[in-house]
Amino acid sequence: MNKILIDLQHITKSFDGQMVLDDLNLYIRENEFLTLLGPSGCGKTTTLRILGGFETPDKGCVIFDGQDITKMPPNKRQLNTVFQKYALFSHMSIAENIAFGLKIKNKSKSYINDKIKYALKLVNLEGYENRTPDSLSGGQQQRIAIARAIVNEPKVLLLDEPLGALDLKLRQDMQYELIRLKNELGITFIYVTHDQEEALTMSDTIVVMNQGYIQQIGSPERIYNEPENAFVADFIGDSNIISATMIEDKLVEILGVRFPCVDTGFGTNKPVDVVIRPEDVVLSSVGNGKIKGTVTHLIFKGVHYEMEVTANGYEWLVHSTGMFPVGTEVGIDVDPYNIQIMNKPASEDEEAAKIDE
Ligand SMILES: Nc1ncnc2c1ncn2[C@@H]1O[C@H](COP(=O)(O)OP(=O)(O)O)[C@@H](O)[C@H]1O
Ligand SMILES: [Mg+2]
Repeated sequence: MNKILIDLQHITKSFDGQMVLDDLNLYIRENEFLTLLGPSGCGKTTTLRILGGFETPDKGCVIFDGQDITKMPPNKRQLNTVFQKYALFSHMSIAENIAFGLKIKNKSKSYINDKIKYALKLVNLEGYENRTPDSLSGGQQQRIAIARAIVNEPKVLLLDEPLGALDLKLRQDMQYELIRLKNELGITFIYVTHDQEEALTMSDTIVVMNQGYIQQIGSPERIYNEPENAFVADFIGDSNIISATMIEDKLVEILGVRFPCVDTGFGTNKPVDVVIRPEDVVLSSVGNGKIKGTVTHLIFKGVHYEMEVTANGYEWLVHSTGMFPVGTEVGIDVDPYNIQIMNKPASEDEEAAKIDE
């Protein structure tokens, strides 16, 4: 495990009496690709701006490499930010754009030229020194914005929805580019997005946020397979989230039917939520399966069929390579290890863990 580089401690921030971050605690390790993921307005950008020094928290502190930098101005921090709007200087050449920060630091001409070459090579735009920003595509401009940030040799790159303005295909290409870039640079990336697929693709660690609270921190696999509450389960991909009762360890009653599961420690006869991913719902011909249902919707999605199956008063979302036409009676089964048990939100503090209907 790499050492902890950044530690956000008890960060609280309000704007106009409105609490945006409420006692946020988060550490980030050296060389980690960490993503802040959540819906618009949940406080991602505010967290990043506090890290970058563009915003001061009302309470709490930012520790960088053991030092309290809460009040340190942005240009003194070993962090650089890449924003969604790349804001290149349109009247300057690409080389001048990249050199801008270094000139302010009074670096020598040969040092600057070496850095420009190195940065352009890293972002796969060798030979673009004398072009102007408006002669480049959106994707290329974003690469220049990244090149401009990395010539300063930051220990951490902060990226705020940097691919948000690009179309889907380009965005996917750039995701691979960013992973490569991070590995070559060997620095820490802190990435902000509202796109769960982007977060799952690129991150070592995902921090799921809602309404200024951290909902869950974990690896992409962990967040996807073992969401800790209904908000995370719902935000990370399609899910069946069903009210259920934990009868005892390894036995849960879902829609009146008892299913074996693998979770323990939730107590006996306790209300819980269960999450079952659509690809984990197993359909069979009627007579088989634990619950009987009827297919009410069917669409072909390319890789799989998406179906809705009404069973015991719940509309199950199902992804399957097998096709059952609308009106078919089917049996539903779920393997024990594909049933994820979650505690129900317990108090008003956990309001943010609920799904907005
Ligand atoms: N400078 C500001 N002044 C007033 N309100 C702000 C300011 N910055 C952010 N907010 C508010 O804080 C909340 C969180 O914003 P933000 O951190 O930008 O969310 P996200 O990046 O997750 O979409 C929003 O309600 C936003 O309107
Ligand atoms: Mg934002």
